Amino acid sequence: MMRPLALLAVMLLCGAARADELPALRRGINVLGYDGIWNGEVDNPFRMNDFDRIRAAGFDHVRINFFGLRHMDATGKLGRTALAALDKAIDGAIARGLVVVLDQHQNEECVTTPLLCKDKLVAFWKQVSTRYAGTRPALLYEILNEPGGVMTHEQWNDALADALAEIRAHDRERPVVVAALNVGGPVAVTQLRLPPDDRRLIVTVHYYEPMRFTHQSAPWSPDYAKFRNVAWGAADSRAAVEADFAPAAAWARENGRPMWLGEFGVYDKAPPLSRAAWTRHVARAAEKSGWGWAFWEFDHEFAAIDIATGAWRQDLLDALMDKPPANP
Ligand code: GLC
Repeated sequence: MMRPLALLAVMLLCGAARADELPALRRGINVLGYDGIWNGEVDNPFRMNDFDRIRAAGFDHVRINFFGLRHMDATGKLGRTALAALDKAIDGAIARGLVVVLDQHQNEECVTTPLLCKDKLVAFWKQVSTRYAGTRPALLYEILNEPGGVMTHEQWNDALADALAEIRAHDRERPVVVAALNVGGPVAVTQLRLPPDDRRLIVTVHYYEPMRFTHQSAPWSPDYAKFRNVAWGAADSRAAVEADFAPAAAWARENGRPMWLGEFGVYDKAPPLSRAAWTRHVARAAEKSGWGWAFWEFDHEFAAIDIATGAWRQDLLDALMDKPPANP
């Protein structure tokens, strides 16, 4: 049995302690997914000084939702307008002291045609990792948002390995976020196959359970659009969150992998008190598991702001930042 100090020395020599140097993703928020910034700034309500508001509200990072594969031409080349917008968004956030996770959010090809997806992802990350290599240490890459659908664990492990190898060919140090297959809950992390020597990885899951609560009245959700006034907060519903996180948290500890809850949120038609209660509970459950989190989302349908006035929804912000509710 190795003594603790000797073990520490071996870990340092092997570079294993480098995981400590990964940027801390503590409290974050998803931004820009549905903004017109990517398409020549038509219908683009997000302003660069919204990053100031985000920072001032207590967030330390943003997850920039970039539907990157959509901006590739038939040869796989990323368009100049979208790339210029990407520079602007990344630099705008970093200039305000925010860490940025660049999330390749476009997953339609991936959940329907996994092989096509793999080729496109590799082409995407080749261009992006070349573009930003050696710059912007506060920038992280997230290979793919919500892999899933018909994609199997095997296919995802294969695609992520190729995309990661492409990134590492250009940028050895960049912290990279890897999602578990978005199927069956956070326990899916146990099926991930990651290169054991790459300690610059953060593993991510999303959480929206129970869907009939978080997605109630969402018109685009065939299963949940019909639900109205679904409340949340019973003791067993609360306990279910910790139970869902537990196997992923155990896996993360055993494998020495940092975890991050990259999305969680409630559609804005849900009863406000329940919406804030769920948000508070899930954020705390993540923190207790040692995971940072990013709320879904700043504006648009699961918005943390009031779309009409642009002001924060104070109840949600208090829930996220662990401040007592104004009217308990
Ligand atoms: C995913 C989708 C996004 C949706 C969210 C909640 O991130 O890309 O459009 O709003 O999940 O369902």
